[in-house]
Amino acid sequence: LLEASVPSLPLANVLCICVCIVFTTLGPCDPECSDDGCDGPGPQQCVTCLHFFLKFKNNSRLCVSECPQRFWGDRRRCKRCYSSCASCSGSRSNQCTSCVPGHHLTEGTDTCTASYTDLCKKCSENCLKCTSYSICTECKPGTSLQGNRCQRSCDDGFYHDAQEDECRPCHKACATCAAAGVEACSRCAKGFLMEEWRCVSSCSAGFYATEPSPEIADGHGICRRCDSSCLTCAGPSRQNCSSCSSGHRLQEGVCVVNTGCTDGQSTISLLYYMLASMLLENKPCCISPPRFSDVFKAK
Ligand SMILES: *[C@@H]1O[C@H](CO)[C@@H](O)[C@H](O)[C@H]1NC(C)=O
Ligand SMILES: *[C@@H]1O[C@H](CO)[C@@H](O)[C@H](O)[C@H]1NC(C)=O
Repeated sequence: LLEASVPSLPLANVLCICVCIVFTTLGPCDPECSDDGCDGPGPQQCVTCLHFFLKFKNNSRLCVSECPQRFWGDRRRCKRCYSSCASCSGSRSNQCTSCVPGHHLTEGTDTCTASYTDLCKKCSENCLKCTSYSICTECKPGTSLQGNRCQRSCDDGFYHDAQEDECRPCHKACATCAAAGVEACSRCAKGFLMEEWRCVSSCSAGFYATEPSPEIADGHGICRRCDSSCLTCAGPSRQNCSSCSSGHRLQEGVCVVNTGCTDGQSTISLLYYMLASMLLENKPCCISPPRFSDVFKAK
C-alpha cells in the first residue's frame, strides 16, 4: 500500500515536508512569533508577530511582547510618542501619560511642557513657572500675571507700584484703580461719579448725572455729556439745557441764539444780520431791521 501511494504525492507536499524537517532541526521560532511561523529563530524573523512589532528604518521588523518606553501600541505596531512624552496613548503632543525629564504633565491637557524650574534655571521674581527668565506663565500665590511678569496683587483700593514694589492706596475717588491719580480709577468710590474715565464728586459743566442703575457702570452714577448746544443741562436732549453759553439764551430748556433785543425791537435773522452788518458798518442787530433798499443804497 505504501509503495503505491508515495509516488503519487504531489511535488509541493514533498517540498513542504522537507521545509518542515529543516525547521524542526534548526529549532522553533521565537516565542514572539505568531502561528504564521518564521524565517529563522530570532524575533526579527517572524512572518507576523504575536503581540507588537517595531519597524526600523532599514525595513526590518522586531517582535516584542510590549512596546518600549516612548512608544505606544497602535493595534500591533509600536509607534513613537511625541518627543516630550515618556509614555503616551497616541502620537499627538496632547496624548502624553508621562513626560521625559525636564518636562511636566500639564493637568487637563495631557501635554508635556518644559519645566525650567526642574533644570534649575531661575524664573523672574514671584514666578512659579516660566518658559524663560522673563516670560512667566504661572505666578506664586498672592501675585497675578500682568503681561509676562508676576506682580503682587493688592487689595481693593490699592494698586501695585512696580518701582517701589509695594501696594499703594488709590486716589480717594477710586474704589479700585490701576495706578496713582484720579484718572486711573477702574471703579469709583461711593459718592463719586464716573465722568469720562475720571471719578468726580459732581459732574463738571457740560455734563449731567445719570441715575445709578445696575446695568451701567456697576450701579455707579456716571456723568454724561450735555447736548452741545447747552452749557449745563439736566438731561441728554437739546431741550434739557439749564444754562447756555454766551450769545445764547435759555428758552423753555432750549438754548437759542441771543439777539440781545429788548421789547419793542424786532429780531432779524442771523444771516440777514450778518449781511447787513457787513454792508452797514456793524450796525447792531436790534434796530428796526434795515430795509433791503437801505442796504443796497449804502452800497
Ligand atoms: C535594522 O536596524 C536595527 C536597529 O537599528 C538593527 O537592530 C537590525 O540589526 C537591523 N537589521 C538589518 C537587517 O540590518
Ligand atoms: C428733558 O427734556 C424732555 C423733553 O422736554 C423732558 O420730557 C424730560 O423730562 C427732560 N429731562 C430732564 C431730566 O429734565
